[in-house]
Amino acid sequence: MNFLHRRADRLHLEEVPLARLAEAYGTPLYAYSAAALSAAYQALDQALAPVPHRICYAVKANPNLAVLRHFARLGAGFDIVSGGELARVLAAGADPGRVVFSGVGKSRTEMRAALEAGIHCFNVESEAELARLDLVAGELGRAAPVSLRVNPDVDAKTHPYISTGLRQNKFGIPIEDAPRLYRAAAGLAHVRVVGLDCHIGSQLTDLAPMADAADRVLALADRLAQEGMPLEHIDLGGGLGIRYRDETPPNAAAYGALLAGRMQGRRETLLVEPGRYLVGNAGVLLTRVEYIKRGAERTFVIVDAAMNDLLRPALYDAWHAIEPVELRPERTPVPCDVVGPVCETSDFLGRERVLAAAEGDLLAILSAGAYGMSMSSTYNSRPRPAEVMVTGNEIRLIRERDSIASLMAGEWLPD
Ligand code: LLP
Repeated sequence: MNFLHRRADRLHLEEVPLARLAEAYGTPLYAYSAAALSAAYQALDQALAPVPHRICYAVKANPNLAVLRHFARLGAGFDIVSGGELARVLAAGADPGRVVFSGVGKSRTEMRAALEAGIHCFNVESEAELARLDLVAGELGRAAPVSLRVNPDVDAKTHPYISTGLRQNKFGIPIEDAPRLYRAAAGLAHVRVVGLDCHIGSQLTDLAPMADAADRVLALADRLAQEGMPLEHIDLGGGLGIRYRDETPPNAAAYGALLAGRMQGRRETLLVEPGRYLVGNAGVLLTRVEYIKRGAERTFVIVDAAMNDLLRPALYDAWHAIEPVELRPERTPVPCDVVGPVCETSDFLGRERVLAAAEGDLLAILSAGAYGMSMSSTYNSRPRPAEVMVTGNEIRLIRERDSIASLMAGEWLPD
């Protein structure tokens, strides 16, 4: 089912015209379809059904409390990378026993909070982190559940900024060092080894690197079992890509079949950590055209959203489809760049587009549910957008727009 569709030339999210959202809540505005979140989750859950599994939603993709609660109610676990994300999943009512904690730089405070909450496991990324976790758990009189994140040295064939599984990346433990570290971990008093983890990158559109990484990780798990260290779970990370433009990522069924096929008959539970796949195409960023500016060489459509609201185009040169909310067939489309009000040349949302936009029009920036609001900032002292969730014809405000006062809260003018 398509959750974003045109009816009488007007774009709707589920049953709600996007224009109504903009009128009620203003722009820029993030809007998510609850049905799209559920559909993505259920498709993956079904694809993995042949084997014991848990889907740990990668909170960083979209950490809104209502999004987290939606997934918690569907039965998801969570992949967190900070104390802030831990607090969010707890506030959303998630079961801490379904939470895995990733990231190369966990602080003592974060470790303590996660141990006290009783998370499922720490995805440990270095020898130094393992030693620190043992100490912190010892201070609390507990044993920390641990999974080592290995770096399988696989080229994920994605944007270099979001590729994580190569030897030269900062992530994970070189796979050839892993057996030694597992032996070391087994000897620590306050660590309990439960799993093995890898994540090779994001926006993967090719199954081959995922298959490669899974094979390397499972071979390591077999070796550990032979050495008397059987594991409870294998975490194959996130990374499943979505279609922004003309990519052809594997669908949930193909991805699920690849992983489930490899896990069939094994003793371990399969964990995955998808972020983008679950939320990316469930969200749009609504923006209004402020001005049309005819420059010397090109036409600029200046909108009220900017790089502070959606950073992906500026940071990765990422492409997001931009659609008029209302089709105006009587106008002639022209080549243009869609840009924001921020004082940087990198402040574009789409370059070399062809649009029939006019002042006051609404535009929808598509596939903005993942790494949109979560990477937003208040750069140029711009309030971050509000967020709404749509279910059928119901609309719920799930985050207020920043106020100017909230932007200055916590700042002081010293005497
Ligand atoms: N697990 C770990 C350990 C991760 O580092 C990530 C993403 C995920 C899971 C989820 O990956 P996903 O399924 O969403 O691909 N800001 C970038 C993406 C950064 C991804 C960082 N790690 C973007 O806008 O494309």
